[in-house]
Amino acid sequence: MIPENAGPAAVIVLAAGAGTRMKSRTPKILHEIGGLSMVGHALRAARSINPQRLAIVVRHERDLVESHVAALDPQAVIVDQDDIPGTGRAVEAALEALHADQDLAGTVVVTYGDVPLLSGGLLTELVATHEREGNAVTVLTAVLDDATGYGRILRGEDGSVTGIREHKDASEAERLIREVNSGIYAFDASVLRDALAKVTNDNAQGEKYLTDVLGLAREAGGRVAAVVTADRWQVEGANDRVQLAALGAELNRRTVEAWMRAGVTVVDPSTTWIDSTVTLDEDVRLLPNTQLHGATTVARDAVVGPDTTLTDVEVGEGATVIRTHGSGSVIGPRAAVGPFTYLRPGTVLGEKGKIGAFYETKNVTIGRGSKLSHLGYAGDAEIGEDTNIGCGNITANYDGEKKHRTVIGSGVRTGSNTVFVAPVTVGDGAYSGAGAVIRKDVPAGALALSVAAQRNAEGWVPAHRPGTRSAELAEAATKNSSSTPASTEEGK
Ligand code: UD1
Ligand code: MG
Repeated sequence: MIPENAGPAAVIVLAAGAGTRMKSRTPKILHEIGGLSMVGHALRAARSINPQRLAIVVRHERDLVESHVAALDPQAVIVDQDDIPGTGRAVEAALEALHADQDLAGTVVVTYGDVPLLSGGLLTELVATHEREGNAVTVLTAVLDDATGYGRILRGEDGSVTGIREHKDASEAERLIREVNSGIYAFDASVLRDALAKVTNDNAQGEKYLTDVLGLAREAGGRVAAVVTADRWQVEGANDRVQLAALGAELNRRTVEAWMRAGVTVVDPSTTWIDSTVTLDEDVRLLPNTQLHGATTVARDAVVGPDTTLTDVEVGEGATVIRTHGSGSVIGPRAAVGPFTYLRPGTVLGEKGKIGAFYETKNVTIGRGSKLSHLGYAGDAEIGEDTNIGCGNITANYDGEKKHRTVIGSGVRTGSNTVFVAPVTVGDGAYSGAGAVIRKDVPAGALALSVAAQRNAEGWVPAHRPGTRSAELAEAATKNSSSTPASTEEGK
């Protein structure tokens, strides 16, 4: 059954090309901008118009591309292109694969896997125009200052589109045309199939050109038209890393602007990078030099930055995260993190909790209101509520072979430089003295002391380091204190 709001019959994403100019072992369309591969962006845009079928044509590095696509969009039909080159052949292969299951009728949209800024909105406009005008083919075009390399849009005296001429096949006069083919089209399925059967490879590149379909459709009596976009970014492909960076910057500019319009304060848009997979609430504040990646979410009134990078981190309402590098973590509501804090995966900080300066955490659950304020490491641990971990505390979780857990209860107060040698458990309300090395479980309410009693070897410095500045000062101090009767034993 076809849902009422169904989009076109199919979208075909072309992605068989090699992309040699990337000079990369990674297939071109797997290169990322805004936290998503280029083909990921293409699939997103394609899905957003709700097609009944989605096919992607692959060839170069097909196994890598196939597994990547299958992970992103398991419903997408992977189509292999054969040895015959050209965009026309690619679409033909997709039509054959889709027809094998069921006959295609209606609108077929063709897009590219390497045009990452194309939006669902523009595709919707293309399909709507195509269907409203009853066209055989509607091509998305743009007018560029430099059209070198692109297929040029040929128009008749009346302005109607008569065909497309590839740059390499174009005459001098045709090369002056600045309206170019984006490579994105809406076709009537049966017109497309019939025309492709007639397309030859009789051209400068010896390829089966999809662009030849326009002329053939017109000859067969169909209406061919164009949707001209003023937004050149949406039809721009990335062929090398320079273009990839430019597209990445523009995508980010658009993402940041969209979040500001949605109620997020971004103090410095030019140094704020937000992946297209991130979600933010109203009244979030992002300070300069902040990068938010992956599945990161930030709740209302939270402040993130400056100088913070978060990947797959959930930031709770009203939390503050300052100069922090974090991944795979949860920061509770009104909790405080930073500055100079390293949150590794599995860190879960409870409401109003704190992980302060120069702390590294990993795989640790920290209860409501508990504080790890300064200098330390907490890993493979569980800390209860309202516990205060003193300065410089460390969970010694690794015995050289295995990792072990530290469990610390609620209402605990640990002295500075306490070391927890895991596996070890500290009960509720327990304390530890400064420098304690906790090797045995501490019962609730106990004070754990593990450091040997202090012994002062009096006069050691003057005796063993005679003539040093320390010895001189020590001698002076001893003389002074013994000549002040009130402060000496003898004076009493
Ligand atoms: C193509 C268009 C040109 C248009 C330009 C826009 C044709 C003949 N020409 O040019 O009019 O201005 O795109 O960028 O269509 N692909 C396949 N199989 C192939 C060849 C290409 O899947 O055999 C895919 C590529 O992976 C890429 C897209 O089709 O995603 C375009 O291929 P590319 O070679 O970059 O296009 P051009 O020939 O430059
Ligand atoms: Mg080509």
